[in-house]
Amino acid sequence: MNKLNHVAFIMDGNGRWGQKKNKGRNFGHFKGVEVVKKIVEKSIKLKVPIITFYVFSTENWKRPKSEINFLFNLIIKYFDQELNRVVLNGIKINIIGKINILPIKIKKSLKESIKKTKKNKKIIVNLAINYGSRDEIVNACKKSKKKINLQSISKNLYTKNLPNPDILIRTGGRKRLSNFMLWQLAYTEIYFINKLWPDFKINDFEKIIIDFKRVKRNFGSI
Ligand code: IPE
Ligand code: IPE
Ligand code: MG
Repeated sequence: MNKLNHVAFIMDGNGRWGQKKNKGRNFGHFKGVEVVKKIVEKSIKLKVPIITFYVFSTENWKRPKSEINFLFNLIIKYFDQELNRVVLNGIKINIIGKINILPIKIKKSLKESIKKTKKNKKIIVNLAINYGSRDEIVNACKKSKKKINLQSISKNLYTKNLPNPDILIRTGGRKRLSNFMLWQLAYTEIYFINKLWPDFKINDFEKIIIDFKRVKRNFGSI
């Protein structure tokens, strides 16, 4: 049986879900947070050491300002309301992405959540915010200077301290990576799910993990 260290999520489909309900795209984002909370709880129960959520991509700046603001406010509100519980539950928050260029308010909120949870050991919840994989790789090459090899690049990525994802789950029915962890996903088991993110259930998550455990992973061997 395969050991599970790291599950990553591209939580796609919030906007379409909100529109389908005639309540607008942002309502879908609002509902999406509930699913994140449930997945984190379940992952703690299942003793999954690391989970990553793709929250905001470097390309998501192309969206209307009102939606971008809504998303950032949702993150700020989440930590305002939940940080104490996050600390008590043993969750360590890690952020990947270019956070230094984010608006001051969200930057502060993220920094505080990292600081207050840094000693926690139960699970790492890794949030990809203003994250773009191509950017990440270019920067890792620059930092490697003349000594470019597999190791020098790996250790200069945002994910330098994390193992590669074993599972990637993308909801929302699209079969693409949208500039997410292009380097780290080289041997990841990928699950494309048709359900929109707010409809994704714990049961769907469990089924994927059961399937993953029995997959024969070759890593190029036989
Ligand atoms: C959530 O889904 C992804 C985020 C940027 C948070 P979308 O907002 O992309 O929803 P769809 O794909 O337009 O339905
Ligand atoms: C991927 O979803 C980004 C996040 C989930 C944060 P998008 O909705 O931005 O992806 P594309 O643009 O449809 O490929
Ligand atoms: Mg989308």
